[in-house]
Amino acid sequence: MSRSAPVVPTVLLVLALAACSAGVHGTPGGPGVRDPYFPKAGNGGYDVTHYDLKLAYDTDEGHRPHLAGTATLTARATKDLSAFDLDFKGLDVEDVTVEGERARWNRAGQELTVRPRDDLDEDETFRVTVRYSGTPQTITDPDGSEEGWLRTTDGALALGEPTGSMAWFPGNHHPSDKASYDIAVSVPKGLQAVSNGELRGETSSKGSTTFSWHTAEPMASYVATVAVGHYDISRSTLGRNRLPVYVAVDPTEAKAGRKVLAKIPEIMEWEEYNFGPYPFSSTGAIVDRPQDAGYALETQNRPVFPGAPDTETLVHELAHQWYGDSVTPKTWRDMWLNEGFATYAEWLWDEDHGGDTARQTFDALYDHGEEDNPDLWAFPPAKPSSAAHISDTPVYMRGAMVLQKIRQTVGDDTFYDIIQGWAATHRHGNADTDDFTAYVEKKVPDKDFGPIWKDWLYGKGKPEHR
Ligand code: TRP
Ligand code: ZN
Repeated sequence: MSRSAPVVPTVLLVLALAACSAGVHGTPGGPGVRDPYFPKAGNGGYDVTHYDLKLAYDTDEGHRPHLAGTATLTARATKDLSAFDLDFKGLDVEDVTVEGERARWNRAGQELTVRPRDDLDEDETFRVTVRYSGTPQTITDPDGSEEGWLRTTDGALALGEPTGSMAWFPGNHHPSDKASYDIAVSVPKGLQAVSNGELRGETSSKGSTTFSWHTAEPMASYVATVAVGHYDISRSTLGRNRLPVYVAVDPTEAKAGRKVLAKIPEIMEWEEYNFGPYPFSSTGAIVDRPQDAGYALETQNRPVFPGAPDTETLVHELAHQWYGDSVTPKTWRDMWLNEGFATYAEWLWDEDHGGDTARQTFDALYDHGEEDNPDLWAFPPAKPSSAAHISDTPVYMRGAMVLQKIRQTVGDDTFYDIIQGWAATHRHGNADTDDFTAYVEKKVPDKDFGPIWKDWLYGKGKPEHR
């Protein structure tokens, strides 16, 4: 009896090992990456390296937009997986394959759960292809603004901050997972399609034109875009390295657009001087007329503007290419690293172009900023009160004030070293507030930044200031 006792467990072990080699050792990847504000954004268990999106845009008889898409993601499993999720909202899924084999899938809310026939091993690179179609949705943000797939007067515009990109392609929609992209968009003949990166090809066939865009540098999905419509296109190059510039302007904005967009070279040069080398392989802008969105967005390479922008807005969105698009927040709590920097860029531009100094802007805000911005002191920039407030005034203004406090502590030379070094150190990566405070402390070890972090980044209410 006692000798035979271990036999049963041994048999189980052998069975278990056999089951493992047959591929049932993985567990589900999970529906989120624990973002403090958007817990379902992103997914666990894998890391996307490349998105290949083939989209066909059209409108039906009722002028409703229609999209047919094939999205192929190349990803690496970060653990053994029996299933994994993609974020995808609206649109109808036709089929899903993993490594060319049909996979089972189901949907619940924004989670598209994919169950491959064979488990995926940790570190394995795999491809998942989703075919889909339908009328893409406009998504309302927690703060009430519109994103996702938006209609314009003559086409469409896809905007993704913070969670809109799941309305037009399935993906790992969290800023912490950046990837390269190929986005090919077919549109009815006569229309144009503009996206991120560089235009690699334009081909026509029976009634449609396909525009193929390539983004080599890592991109967060919230700054991916597609704009469809009629555009005046201007192409040029910038500087000694002949950086390609591609500007698409809605024809009704052409005159105002040309005037402001002529400023791109000057702004780009000024920003490179102040922030360091431009992190991407092309630049430009898209000026369009969305029906529901009235805001600009720092879409990668080519920020989007709802109508011709003023100079400050252009400075702001181009500054985001360094702070936001290249150095991307690890979570949606770290938004001030985007908006505080881009706002401070506006203050610096004014200072360098005959306007108020950044210090004067800070002082005016400190003394009576709440008259124009009643919520200025509503919450600390590094800890927005909820998902509905991640793009409120404290994130922008008080975020910029943090940078001015640092500048006053370290002096101009070190300050410019810090903002350039920050962009260089985390180029094409992700960073959070702790990374930033640690970076500043390491750069300037003989100064005490504790009070600035405590009062200005994390403190409740209006901080003391001398
Ligand atoms: N990031 C945009 C800017 O340049 C503003 C913005 C648009 C935004 N949509 C958002 C910010 C959603 C946060 C969330 O300032
Ligand atoms: Zn911004």
